[in-house]
Amino acid sequence: MKQKIAVIPGDGIGVEVTQQGLAILDHLNASAGLNIDYHVFPYNAQRWLDEGLGLSDDDIKNLQDNYHGIYFGALGDPRIPDSAHARQILLKLRFDLDLFANVRPVKLLHPGLTPLKPASGQTNQDIDCVIIRENTEDLYRGVGGAFKEGNEDEMAIDQRIHSYKGVERIIRFAFDYAVAHQRQKVTLVDKDNVIIYGGRLWTRVFHEVARNYPQIETDYMHVDVAAMRMVTAPSMFDVIVTSNMFGDILSDIGAGIVGGLGLLPSANVNPQTSGLFEPVHGSAPDIAGTNQANPMAAFMTLSMLLAHLNHHGQAAQLTQAVSRCLTEGLTTPDLGGTLNTEGVTQAILARLPA
Ligand code: NAD
Ligand code: IPM
Ligand code: MN
Repeated sequence: MKQKIAVIPGDGIGVEVTQQGLAILDHLNASAGLNIDYHVFPYNAQRWLDEGLGLSDDDIKNLQDNYHGIYFGALGDPRIPDSAHARQILLKLRFDLDLFANVRPVKLLHPGLTPLKPASGQTNQDIDCVIIRENTEDLYRGVGGAFKEGNEDEMAIDQRIHSYKGVERIIRFAFDYAVAHQRQKVTLVDKDNVIIYGGRLWTRVFHEVARNYPQIETDYMHVDVAAMRMVTAPSMFDVIVTSNMFGDILSDIGAGIVGGLGLLPSANVNPQTSGLFEPVHGSAPDIAGTNQANPMAAFMTLSMLLAHLNHHGQAAQLTQAVSRCLTEGLTTPDLGGTLNTEGVTQAILARLPA
């Protein structure tokens, strides 16, 4: 069966790494007969600057009705300092397609990649957890306001929004994910000692939902101590479920402990509908245009998209090819290698079945 994906490269290195991802997809289409068609959409900073348009409702409907998934690069452009276009494109997609679960696996693919020392008594760090981040509520909803802007009486309010339905479905998703992926424990990360109303809701619903999964161990951790332990004792985490803002921050810590943003993929999904697959990193304006961007996060992201499209064999082959390149030191400079972006793609292609 023909499958169709929409590709939104975005800005900066988002364009560079998705182009490499498509080279890999072209290879898999030809070598493994995948039959995945793709269409590239220019929803980016330039369109925003030229037309003042992020995504129209028709654009959203087209993506929703006609594609089995979205392969996304990154949005961010120095000409739009407040990233208004990213909210009108990326956040709009997450909200309007109701992609409520942001799944961010944090796995150490090679022991040499972590900046962490091995824990006492161990020879290696054992890092393999998954951050399940609520993706449609919290501070990201843009509820708030400002008044008396620009003078000393100025007030600015950004409100955290948490609904029972929103909290319940992401916690249930996390437990279902744990069961489906043979994981043992789900840790709720929040801050219910300070953020009392939302915190109460998250904690109560977490215990309510957990009762249906007696085989899964549960844990609660305040976000500050969780941030510390991700650095000092990452092996204590298995599945982490958390709210939107905390999940955003923890996922960059996750990237930091397994080799950096050049490696971390993510999937924005709703089990009832479709998904948007994007690296965790942004448009990296500091290296855009230099052919130095590490495309591996985009490849790991493509692997998640392939698995979503039920091509599990090819998804695993791609992950293995990335792991082999890491072991052989075939990387871009962010990981200490000497290859450029395209050089990494060539090395990956050479390690995939012809
Ligand atoms: P960033 O992730 O773009 O970059 C942070 C640092 O990591 C930079 O030094 C960058 O060079 C490096 N880096 C990131 N990805 C890399 C890769 N693949 N290979 C090598 N090095 C890599 O975060 P930032 O600098 O805070 O943000 C830049 C812009 O991107 C901003 O406009 C921000 O809003 C946007 N952003 C977008 C997304 C997204 O679209 N999903 C995510 C994060 C940030
Ligand atoms: C991410 C990014 C986005 C977020 C930005 C670009 C809106 O940082 O996907 O992690 O905060 O969710
Ligand atoms: Mn982020």
